[in-house]
Amino acid sequence: MATPPTSPQTTPSKSSHKVVSVSLFGSSDFQGVPLSSEYFEVSSTRLGSGAWSDVFAASSLETKQESGLDLLTPPATPTKSTFARNTCFPRGEIYAVKKPASRSAKAVNIAEAKTLTFLHQIKGHEEYLVYFRGIDPTSGHLVLDRYPLSLEDYINQDLNKRAREARTTTLMTILPTLTKHLVTGLAWIHNAGIIHADIKPSNILLEAVFPPSTEPSSTRTSFPYTPLYADFSASLPTHPPTSTTATANDNKDKDNDNDNGNVDANPATAGGTWDFLAPELLTSDPSSSPRPSPRSDIYALGVTLLFLIVGRSPYADAPNVFLRREMARLGKPMQCIYHDERFEAVARGLTAAAARGVDGGGGGGGGVVIAGIKRAVERKAEARVEAGEWADELL
Ligand SMILES: Nc1ncnc2c1ncn2[C@@H]1O[C@H](COP(=O)(O)OP(=O)(O)OP(=O)(O)O)[C@@H](O)[C@H]1O
Ligand SMILES: [Mg+2]
Repeated sequence: MATPPTSPQTTPSKSSHKVVSVSLFGSSDFQGVPLSSEYFEVSSTRLGSGAWSDVFAASSLETKQESGLDLLTPPATPTKSTFARNTCFPRGEIYAVKKPASRSAKAVNIAEAKTLTFLHQIKGHEEYLVYFRGIDPTSGHLVLDRYPLSLEDYINQDLNKRAREARTTTLMTILPTLTKHLVTGLAWIHNAGIIHADIKPSNILLEAVFPPSTEPSSTRTSFPYTPLYADFSASLPTHPPTSTTATANDNKDKDNDNDNGNVDANPATAGGTWDFLAPELLTSDPSSSPRPSPRSDIYALGVTLLFLIVGRSPYADAPNVFLRREMARLGKPMQCIYHDERFEAVARGLTAAAARGVDGGGGGGGGVVIAGIKRAVERKAEARVEAGEWADELL
């Protein structure tokens, strides 16, 4: 059973100053990408924690140049251009190391590395996913680029601290572009044959745009970040593999069995929040084990965008965790926020802006954003909009 989530903190941990050796994109069974080792010193600065892992800042200890390899020589095996980014780890550059929180979590990390390896071979991944650097297959440590904050951090530490009107104006500006990027990214993931299965604000990391914004953050209404999907620990193939078709997650069950058996990365049962789970995944029938789908991802993205607009979970008013879960099971998040002032102000503002032909100032079709979110959180999976269709509507 999973370790319950712990709150993010920056206190030193016992794991400080451990050096991990990482095979770029994993070893040869990780999609046949050439093996090469890099070394990272894991610091005591905790960047976050989840049900499966603790994430620490880590610095690169050597470059290939220092270790005698020629940085200018392309990899011997023909690879896609994106792999070139992995040929240099300047000394001292900071990365994020995702350390499994338990032995069973190691199998989850290994499965996540396989999915990320698979996705990193497809054009466009840098636009939509966190950048995966490699895994130490022995310890199960994943190395990723380090990002300054998650969407959840942005909501709690920036957006929710603004005065009401400024908050509404900011959302009207950022929502169309942000929604468009996240929906297009999800269509990209689904087209690649992967279901994310755990979309929520803490699993969306924000990359600072370059050059950085010079506006003071307290008055800024632009969104100087690109949202990237992170945490593929629960992900699975859209079509379960048959014995003749190989995909990134083929070995997930095998790994789990080999290491521990009973590894379950499903957020519904792994102790995580239920707030973003589609109602069809929250059946009370113990004999059925519903499988996440592209449409349950769409639902989770819809609830994530509602969370962004109202600044908290649509079920935050539930008096206790049991009722909160019941509300999630009913699958009616719109009803729960219907009279929320924050939601009404943003919806009214975007609709009025669309009527004036200015689309909330953010481009990407502000007037259709709220309508799209409503179609994403339809209780019945068949009634939900698909990611590709939704992305086209937001053009
Ligand atoms: N590359 C990164 N850069 C900065 N912070 C990160 C990075 N990866 C993860 N984090 C932080 O660590 C947290 C936990 O990471 P992640 O979601 O990947 O772990 P998990 O154990 O699989 O979580 P979950 O409980 O969602 O299953 C994130 O919410 C984020 O705050
Ligand atoms: Mg997470």
